[in-house]
Amino acid sequence: MQITIEPAGRCRGTISVPGDKSISHRAAIFSSLANGQVEIEGFLNAEDPRATLECMKMLGVEVNETGDQEQGKEQKVKQTLRIRGRGLKGLEEAPDILDAGNSGTTARLLVGLLSAQPFYTVLTGDASLRKRPMGRISEPLRQMGAQIDGRKEGTLLPLTIRGQDLSSINFNSPVASAQVKSALLLAALQAGGTTTITEPGLSRDHTERMLLHFGVPLKWGPRGEIILEGPVSKLAADHVKVPGDISSAAFFMVAAALAPRGDLLIRDVGLNPTRTGILDVLNQMDAQIRVINQREHNREPVGDLHVKGGKSLRGVEVPGEIIPRLIDEIPILAVAAAFAEGETRIKGAGELRVKESDRLQALSRELKKMGVPVEEFPDGLSIQGSKTISGGRVFSHGDHRIAMSLAIAGLFAEQETVIDGVDSVPVSFPGFFDRLKEIDG
Ligand code: S3P
Repeated sequence: MQITIEPAGRCRGTISVPGDKSISHRAAIFSSLANGQVEIEGFLNAEDPRATLECMKMLGVEVNETGDQEQGKEQKVKQTLRIRGRGLKGLEEAPDILDAGNSGTTARLLVGLLSAQPFYTVLTGDASLRKRPMGRISEPLRQMGAQIDGRKEGTLLPLTIRGQDLSSINFNSPVASAQVKSALLLAALQAGGTTTITEPGLSRDHTERMLLHFGVPLKWGPRGEIILEGPVSKLAADHVKVPGDISSAAFFMVAAALAPRGDLLIRDVGLNPTRTGILDVLNQMDAQIRVINQREHNREPVGDLHVKGGKSLRGVEVPGEIIPRLIDEIPILAVAAAFAEGETRIKGAGELRVKESDRLQALSRELKKMGVPVEEFPDGLSIQGSKTISGGRVFSHGDHRIAMSLAIAGLFAEQETVIDGVDSVPVSFPGFFDRLKEIDG
């Protein structure tokens, strides 16, 4: 599927964005494991979190999906769900293969959960997910006693899992990855003994916050290590409210910052400090973004973002230490950099090569097609900004965030931009192009 973006770039008004993808996955999983019914408000009804929900249904969980809150033009993107939790020991063997679709979070978190469930599971995903590394979870889970098999020694999907009694682990993660950390925490909840987890940089901590919300007594040690005493007897919460996804808001932040008369209010955005690297970097580039009306829902900080355009951005250095806090925002940051004065250098971002696409390669190829000078390094990019970029014909590489980033670039290009492969967008943001028309119409 392809779409044509005409140069426009007005970017004024008030919008909200769909629910946070990471929090939606976790809400679906933890509610399924709770004792009693949990109401989830603002669940992201997009392909990725739906994959998690469909897997939980196949594992015997009852989900009531009535009570839609917001009806988009094409889809209901924010949903209220009621999930009847089955407790930590109540899941059932699925009658068929679980399909994580395009979703790394679904695959990795469910492998952690199901490693300790007393039944057999087969889990697969789409062509992109079947190429992504699973050894990063299967290896430490095996150290806990998990029985996981699959292609290439259990490092690629499809994987089979024979649930076992697990023991705890002291795990020093080689990567700052919330998916790895969360897979191990889901296993540790059910394992005997004290599990500790450290990571080289703090990745998003939604799992930790949600476990506390569900009453699990998680602790932190003096070196910042997470400590969990297993097995946990129960999880319980009545309600989870999912804030808007800062990763989805980021497309509109950049659009409004680039627009000469941009003036946009983005309401109800999740502002967890492990996710706000994009705000820090855009402000460092001289974007004018103000956080207002700060509050908290179920231990997650939330606020509104007021973005003003009209000031030219400047290129900056984006060091490796900040990457975990903006891991999914590099594509849209690269677009901001393409219009900034001078060079933007992104370092220590090798993890981008194993996302939904090889995002460093995809960005370098596609931005070059639009006339942006980009140099690709093994773990980063150098982007030479310019006031004008050409437009042209570009490709999403089957990656939702590349497609949406190119659409924002297209708003400020000299000629029209034709983007191939936009059918990936509903993975995280159904209705994205409608929202774009809304602020630009
Ligand atoms: C996610 C963690 C990140 C992120 C992904 C969602 C999560 O992946 O890129 O989009 O929900 O835990 P890694 O944990 O592999 O860095």
